[in-house]
Amino acid sequence: MSHSKITKNGSRRILITSALPYANGPIHLGHMLEYIQTDIWARFQKLVGNECYYVCADDTHGTPIMLSAQRQNITPEELIAKSHQDHLQDFNGFHINFDNFHSTHSEENKFYTEKVYQSLLDKGHIERRTINQLYDPDKHMFLPDRFVKGECPKCGSADQYGDNCDSCSATYNPTDLKNPKSAVSGATPILKDSEHFFVKLQDFENILKNWLKDGVSQQIENKLNEWLDVGLQQWDISRDAPYFGYSIPGHPDKFFYVWLDAPIGYLASFKNLCDKTPELEFDDFWKKSSDAEVYHFIGKDIINFHCLFWPACLHATDYRMPTSVFAHGFLTVNGTKMSKSKGTFIKASTYLENLNPEYLRYYFAAKLSGKIDDFDLNLEDFVQRVNSDLVNKYVNIASRCAKLIKKSGNQLHASIDKPMLLKEFQQSADKIAQFYEDREYGKASKVIMQLADKANIYIDEQAPWKLAKDESTADQALAICSMGIHLFHILSIYLKPVLPQLVSQVENFLKVDPLSWQDISKPLVSHELNDFKPLMKRVEPAQVEKNANQLGRSA
Ligand code: 2FM
Ligand code: ZN
Repeated sequence: MSHSKITKNGSRRILITSALPYANGPIHLGHMLEYIQTDIWARFQKLVGNECYYVCADDTHGTPIMLSAQRQNITPEELIAKSHQDHLQDFNGFHINFDNFHSTHSEENKFYTEKVYQSLLDKGHIERRTINQLYDPDKHMFLPDRFVKGECPKCGSADQYGDNCDSCSATYNPTDLKNPKSAVSGATPILKDSEHFFVKLQDFENILKNWLKDGVSQQIENKLNEWLDVGLQQWDISRDAPYFGYSIPGHPDKFFYVWLDAPIGYLASFKNLCDKTPELEFDDFWKKSSDAEVYHFIGKDIINFHCLFWPACLHATDYRMPTSVFAHGFLTVNGTKMSKSKGTFIKASTYLENLNPEYLRYYFAAKLSGKIDDFDLNLEDFVQRVNSDLVNKYVNIASRCAKLIKKSGNQLHASIDKPMLLKEFQQSADKIAQFYEDREYGKASKVIMQLADKANIYIDEQAPWKLAKDESTADQALAICSMGIHLFHILSIYLKPVLPQLVSQVENFLKVDPLSWQDISKPLVSHELNDFKPLMKRVEPAQVEKNANQLGRSA
């Protein structure tokens, strides 16, 4: 079913997360699609008065991070500390307003990972069994699928990873590769036995099936049914040393697989926030009977981790399961898939060197829906959309009206020129709120821009600049421009989740406290404004060009 709450009364308690970025790579625009989508939702919930927390963390464990640190001749701890700074800088740059951004390499995460494991163990959900895997005899380490390369067993293409073939899309086991080589040392791997720890996911089949009915959209449920229909497999949660992560209690040479402790990072980050916030109680959100809401925003590639393994872990630990998991599609740029390995992704920091972050926030919002379809960042459309909607429609309303109002000492008129028009703007609030709630930001933006069109048509038709020339109609000109500002005020509230920085400049111009959803019904009659300062520049295609030219400079 589709999960849709009504947002009105502002009494909900909500915890929101985005997927944790890996600590061994830069944030790119594919990541930003998710963080911006989530941030808009969190800001919207706060704007309507709900108690809402948005937490995240760096995902710090695993073989790629261990090897990346080795290559750079630094410790994994040094590597993750550096990434933490870089990631935060990018998030701040895009106005991602986390209530907490923590790390999975933290005391809290170790504590909850051990707690989850102990609960699984105590309830008999863990099985130990010996398996046979590829091992690098030079590096003395087992090789994850992505660290074995060889010829595809189906089509024979050279240089393919151990899990699937880029050329014919076949999926297989690394042991099926022909002429396998370790991507770490180049050595030919050998097969070696090792005992692993498995979670018996089958034990959770009924619980998961029930949760899915309410917890996720039909699109996600269909995807999960593909796994459920063939029967849930056991989940391998252990890795052998050397591994950067937490060792399994009582087994110093075995480590928890990074995907066990990664989602537990949501608990850890929230706990870390609770410890800094006296009125916030961890259990209020996570105990089984909690009436708070928990939402995870993720990409469609990690649905199984969040909708099968993670709810099972929570259930076994006697914690509540998520209220819902929201998945989005991948980002393409001009119709082409961004790919880390091909170096065709735009880093967040590259974008920020060239362009205003709110252009992208708006563009994402204008085209996002609550579905898992892929999202295309078309650079021409980006320029056109931002300039036409934000600069020519929205910001233009204020700049057209401000000049004449300044002539009257920046004081708005005491009357409302067109009460019916004001009412129409106010009465769109519920519809827009519901679109935000349903993550149908594209639909919300469309309604907002239709209103902006109406405001501009009203100003065009009334032509206050003509009336201002004659003293006998100057008062009417002020009433019209004031009306324009009332409409602009409401539009600013509607756009605030998407454009926090711009709307903060607007708040300064309007000389008001931070705007909230309730302010929609409070027009600024007889109110004094500050001098108007330009709010947003047009996007220059040349700046976008620069960004595009930096494609591929980023891996
Ligand atoms: O896919 C990824 O980028 C992972 N780092 C996401 C982890 S999300 C959560 F489970 F921690
Ligand atoms: Zn192949």
